Amino acid sequence: MPLQDDTSHHPIGVFDSGIGGLTVVAALQKHLPHENIIYIGDTARVPYGGKSQATVTRYSQEITTLLLAEKAKMIVIACNTASALALPTLTNFYPLPIHGVIEPGAFAAVKATRNGRIGVIGTRATITSQAYQETIYRFSPNVHVLSSACPLLVPLVEEGLFEDDITRRILERYLEPMLLEGIDTLVLGCTHYPLLKKLITHIIGPYVTLVDSAENCAMAVESLLAKNHLARHGTPSTDLEVLLTDTSEDFLHIAARALQIKITKIRISSLE
Ligand code: DGL
Repeated sequence: MPLQDDTSHHPIGVFDSGIGGLTVVAALQKHLPHENIIYIGDTARVPYGGKSQATVTRYSQEITTLLLAEKAKMIVIACNTASALALPTLTNFYPLPIHGVIEPGAFAAVKATRNGRIGVIGTRATITSQAYQETIYRFSPNVHVLSSACPLLVPLVEEGLFEDDITRRILERYLEPMLLEGIDTLVLGCTHYPLLKKLITHIIGPYVTLVDSAENCAMAVESLLAKNHLARHGTPSTDLEVLLTDTSEDFLHIAARALQIKITKIRISSLE
């Protein structure tokens, strides 16, 4: 069903399991200053990363339906886990443009690597799905992908422990085997991880290029909006409405401060 041009002033709907997707919101605001954004963090059910495909798909459908009720003109899945497990179902199910974060991250990694050895870190579900590995090989069949599931990182980010010593030690444990294997590029395959960029950069050192899909995702969203005649023009907008499925406002503010984004309105809405 084609969307009407007059929907261009409607917001872009963005979602994640928690606050991690705000890293994508920061990139969207930078690249698309004219767009209003409504963000849903499914804080009642975070983390998604250890759940099954059926559950993550059901959650993603429920959140997308909520975003549609909020008049979203397109959906950005600012969650690697949901992009890896639910993107095809959502695309088939909903009559509006939907974009995930895996393809932009994979593309950026292939562009960045010099020695063809790419590391990917993500949730257990993302890594097990092989979505990054398959997408990277599709872009460049000759590279070598090493991947590692890092299930402890999302809870640390949701607790706001971005620079804590315990976070550093856990990161070292996860990253050292890949560094020993000679990766020159590391994909942050979870939208929570850019909040740990400072610690990660310190551990991987200057030789390894860090790739986060947010910037590339924002550029892909820009083309998708243009292609569907949905881009909003006129005065720049700073509207960012955040809807949480349960209370976790403190962490939301800590993340927003770290990413230098301003939230205009916060609502809590139970999914019941
Ligand atoms: N931030 C999400 C991702 O990119 C989800 C993390 C989780 O809920 O486990 O995968």
